[in-house]
Amino acid sequence: MHLENLVLRHFRNYEEQELSFDNNVNVFLGENAQGKTNLLEAILILAVAKSHRTTNDKDFISWDAESAKIEGRVEKHGQSVPLELTLTQKGKKAKVNHLEQKKLSQYVGNLNVVMFAPEDLSLVKGAPGVRRRFINMEIGQMQPVYLHDLSQYQRILQQRNHFLKQAQIKRKSDPTMWQILTEQFIEVAVKLTKRRADFIERLEQFAVPIHFKISRELEHLKLEYKPSVELEGANPEEWQANLYKKMESIAQREIDRGVTLIGPHRDDLFFYVNGQNVQVFGSQGQQRTTALSVKLAEIDLIFEETGEYPVLLLDDVLSELDDFRQSHLLAAIQGKVQTFVTTTSTDGIDHETINSATTFLVDKGTVTKQ
Ligand SMILES: Nc1ncnc2c1ncn2[C@@H]1O[C@H](COP(=O)(O)OP(=O)(O)O)[C@@H](O)[C@H]1O
Ligand SMILES: [Mg+2]
Repeated sequence: MHLENLVLRHFRNYEEQELSFDNNVNVFLGENAQGKTNLLEAILILAVAKSHRTTNDKDFISWDAESAKIEGRVEKHGQSVPLELTLTQKGKKAKVNHLEQKKLSQYVGNLNVVMFAPEDLSLVKGAPGVRRRFINMEIGQMQPVYLHDLSQYQRILQQRNHFLKQAQIKRKSDPTMWQILTEQFIEVAVKLTKRRADFIERLEQFAVPIHFKISRELEHLKLEYKPSVELEGANPEEWQANLYKKMESIAQREIDRGVTLIGPHRDDLFFYVNGQNVQVFGSQGQQRTTALSVKLAEIDLIFEETGEYPVLLLDDVLSELDDFRQSHLLAAIQGKVQTFVTTTSTDGIDHETINSATTFLVDKGTVTKQ
């Protein structure tokens, strides 16, 4: 798939900007703080209706404006689909083919992106929440129904936590209410856990051979999903029944603490290289290779799932990769993945790539095609 164009209105430091893109490599060149990352962020938001940088949608709106708009046409399966997101102080409005979508989960998935930014190293090094966010964003892009389950889970979790907090304060709980909330909780928890386990397994299949090559055939990567609740049993009914028993066994502890102690909100994902946990024992280089392998694996996985390659966003990372890793990445995307690269300088980027790319200069919120 390709992003044919992008129109921004009052988005961050862009007042009005219209751009059309190359189907191969697009390079945004400019000094710091000119708006390069903002451009990639706009493409990411157009895809997943969320940003990697903030959870507060108001941050997107230019300081002197009331609302922001991002528009773009996506070419896929031979068709051109216009997407439109309006961001206001009150919330988001999303349109596909000029038709408003009632739910964001219906909107997400029309444009698929894979982003690789310096902070992606924290996918390996950072807190579990970073990895859960990654998992949620990636599955959500491929399977919008996952986003629906996830928001349902978050709502039930909140209700259940509120109930447990009240029980803690009053020192007594209503068993019927406990049962209702726990059954609802379990139904969605099991669904999310299963989807996450399947996703990580498929991602691993693609990531392992990529990592092996980028490490000059020295490193075997392993991904391990660490669900907070294990799925015990042969089918969804058994998973639910076993989880119910587990929740019963910790019921008093949850009331004492006033919070839900287990569930997908406590999941994690581990990476191993040659049997060692990369987060704990990996060098900076190994952590970087791991993050890169996982990102490249996502490209293949999205292709397998949707029949189209996603759009790749590389924020300030290409010039940071050594020649070997860079050439691997470029070989992996060559001619098939539309790519957007930001950089302060073209030094350190493969010459052939730069020469055949379309270059844009970014200066104080204005972009000009070279
Ligand atoms: N809501 C906003 N309204 C106006 N300007 C903003 C807003 N959010 C960020 N900016 C400005 O955007 C610029 C940073 O853009 P960014 O894309 O991160 O730069 P870089 O080119 O270094 O990637 C800063 O000058 C910042 O002040
Ligand atoms: Mg930047």
